[in-house]
Amino acid sequence: MRIGIIGCGNIVPQYLKHSRAYEFLDIEALADLDIKRAQARVEEFGLGRACSVDELLDDPDIELVVNLTIPASHYEVAMAALQAGKHVYNEKPLAATVQQARALLEEARGRNLRVGGAPDTFLGSGHQTARKAVDDGLIGRPVAGTAFMLCPGHESWHPAPQFYYREGGGPMLDMGPYYLTALINMLGPVRRVMGMTGIQIPERTLGAGPDAGSKLTVEVPDHVAGLLEFEQGAMVTIVTSFAVIASQHPPITLFGTTASLGVPDPNGFDGKVTLCRERRGTWEELPVAHAVGYGRMSGVADLAQAILNDRPARASGELAFEALRIMRAFYESWESGKVVELESDLRRPLPMPETEQLGRFD
Ligand SMILES: NC(=O)c1ccc[n+]([C@@H]2O[C@H](COP(=O)([O-])OP(=O)(O)OC[C@H]3O[C@@H](n4cnc5c(N)ncnc54)[C@H](O)[C@@H]3O)[C@@H](O)[C@H]2O)c1
Repeated sequence: MRIGIIGCGNIVPQYLKHSRAYEFLDIEALADLDIKRAQARVEEFGLGRACSVDELLDDPDIELVVNLTIPASHYEVAMAALQAGKHVYNEKPLAATVQQARALLEEARGRNLRVGGAPDTFLGSGHQTARKAVDDGLIGRPVAGTAFMLCPGHESWHPAPQFYYREGGGPMLDMGPYYLTALINMLGPVRRVMGMTGIQIPERTLGAGPDAGSKLTVEVPDHVAGLLEFEQGAMVTIVTSFAVIASQHPPITLFGTTASLGVPDPNGFDGKVTLCRERRGTWEELPVAHAVGYGRMSGVADLAQAILNDRPARASGELAFEALRIMRAFYESWESGKVVELESDLRRPLPMPETEQLGRFD
């Protein structure tokens, strides 16, 4: 599968590094609004050539576009790629709004193209192990859960953090996709949602990059608390925040009728899965159910294989769409003061095969 990458900022090195694990992926071209960024990455990794976005989209050899632009550009870049006849894999969130995301999926369907979307961390050993534990009945029937992403925000380290605090950003749209995708992977679709949102720390000081020391104004909620009712019955509390200095809450815990499950950080591929079968009992670490060592690009690799073998992709546009719909429902619920009902015909992504790997890892 011949790949073109659009958007060569902070995250592209991880994609380029991990692309080497998949011999069926060829990185043909890198583009950015600022072509110098693309050139620098081509030189650093020795992969592909640097070109403008238009040149990349006009290249008939490129079959799949990996869209690593900022959230506000996800829709425009992905739509242009689809209209140029290319499959697309978007970084998260799939788009800034549900309407935009729906338009992307419809455009792709009409053209017989595929859309995929980050995150792909649930393909890694941590979340595949957790899902297997749930599927094997180790916690009985899941009845509840908690998911916490609590941090002070990204302005201390990111050289251009403005997008995190503008439309399409915020802790839920930025980090919620990891948590919601991990939860859907284990529990299936969500039926009802309630939310509360607010701007709790409206002014921030940049800690890195060319504008270090300057202030930015927060334009979207920096604290979002939500309740999820899954179709299978579990009730999960989720809180995402850029307004918390420090916290000791674990990332995800599931509570079942016979045991509790400690699920690793969904912003990573690997990590310990722990199980506790009795009140005040010890937490045992579960054996890993799937290959260790996946990194960003595994969702692209899975999408490419899905296209080549005509099977559903795991990190699909439909799954990313569902995560976006849920995230937007938290805002809608808070604005309307009502519970938001979400009908969904989403199927859980297929588990990763236990004996096969997508790629070769060092
Ligand atoms: N930085 C991280 O740790 C991280 C981790 C996981 C996912 N992501 C996601 O990856 C995406 C990119 O994040 P980043 O941190 O690399 O951002 P960034 O701001 O560092 O880089 C984005 C790049 O996209 C380019 N760009 C923006 N609009 C464009 C357009 N219309 N056409 C072509 N190029 C365009 C910019 O010039 C910039 O070089 C975001 O969706 C983010 O949520 C980032």
